[in-house]
Amino acid sequence: MTQRPTLIVLPGDGIGPEVIGATLRIIDWFAKHRGFDCDLRIEQFGIQTYYDTGLFMRQGLMEDLMSADAVLFGALGSDVENRGVSAKVRREQGLLSIRKHMQVFANLRPVKALAPLAGASPLRPHITKGVDLIVVRELTGGMYFGEPRGVETLPDGERRGVNTHVYTSTEIRRIARVAFELARQRRNSVMSVDKANVMEAGVLWREEVSRLHAREFADVRLEHMYADNAAMQLVRNPRQFDVLLADNLFGDILSDEAAMITGSLGMLPSASLSEPDNGGRRRGFYEPVHGSAPDIAGQNKANPLGAVLSFAMALQLSFNRQGDARLLEDAVLATLSQNVRTADIAESHSRIVSTTQMTDAIIHELDRTAR
Ligand code: IPM
Ligand code: MG
Repeated sequence: MTQRPTLIVLPGDGIGPEVIGATLRIIDWFAKHRGFDCDLRIEQFGIQTYYDTGLFMRQGLMEDLMSADAVLFGALGSDVENRGVSAKVRREQGLLSIRKHMQVFANLRPVKALAPLAGASPLRPHITKGVDLIVVRELTGGMYFGEPRGVETLPDGERRGVNTHVYTSTEIRRIARVAFELARQRRNSVMSVDKANVMEAGVLWREEVSRLHAREFADVRLEHMYADNAAMQLVRNPRQFDVLLADNLFGDILSDEAAMITGSLGMLPSASLSEPDNGGRRRGFYEPVHGSAPDIAGQNKANPLGAVLSFAMALQLSFNRQGDARLLEDAVLATLSQNVRTADIAESHSRIVSTTQMTDAIIHELDRTAR
């Protein structure tokens, strides 16, 4: 008998519980209609949990996350700055600590311009038409984790803030490998982003990516681009990109920018994967790219599609259910084609719906295809 895979769900804070609530209904649909059988556990995690218990997550949960087949996460944070959770506590217990613990270094952020949303993007349709790129962002190194870090007060009373951008050749090669392997399944082209014109670590990045390319991936087209130029090219001519490889910080910035090609940050899903373990299994952490949006939290307004499509990525990458992933993506596309929109992707002629109604509409589409 094969064991049921484990899926741990962390709704988190802000709009997290709403978009994850929507996704749980979708998961339930796949359980009922497509035989998606998993051991599903919902766990508390986040700032609210910290206020309630003094910890971001219960003792032992990190170990459970490590052994789960997939983790689906909503969003973290509220009006944090005002409510006194120190940066140190956030770093040691928050989202970054999960990413680091799980060693999910490969963050995949697909950016697809869906035809029905052409008018929802602030970019003109002739720019966005047909864009299908994926940001491969290094997620467990670089500026986010580099030491030394901190704020110190100098003898003369001046304060100094320090963060360190640091990468080893091994870290660069393992993320570059993910990008090249992915490119082979797509349009066979990698654009690697760095600031080798000013940063030594950027020079190393470029050298290591090029070396790995020459040794093992010479069949893949590789180009390098400075990060500032990449930011400009993303709005000038985004169709030139297939796989966009970037470090943690540049990948964070460029993926928010790229999201606007789709119409809204609320549309973007992500998957973060570890190296394969002995059994060949990669840990998978799935989360929408958007944050906790405290300004609209609790109002049933949030776009659930980033979370729903993150579950589609889990179906594909952790549960080996490519057909189901496709089914879900098609249902989302069909729903958008009927001009059903949450506020963030609405146009003047759209029917503006709540989070719940958007989910109803997707389930309606799924039901239609299952009949
Ligand atoms: C993201 C987010 C996070 C990041 C924040 C919430 C820490 O912006 O996933 O892109 O910077 O990585
Ligand atoms: Mg970000």
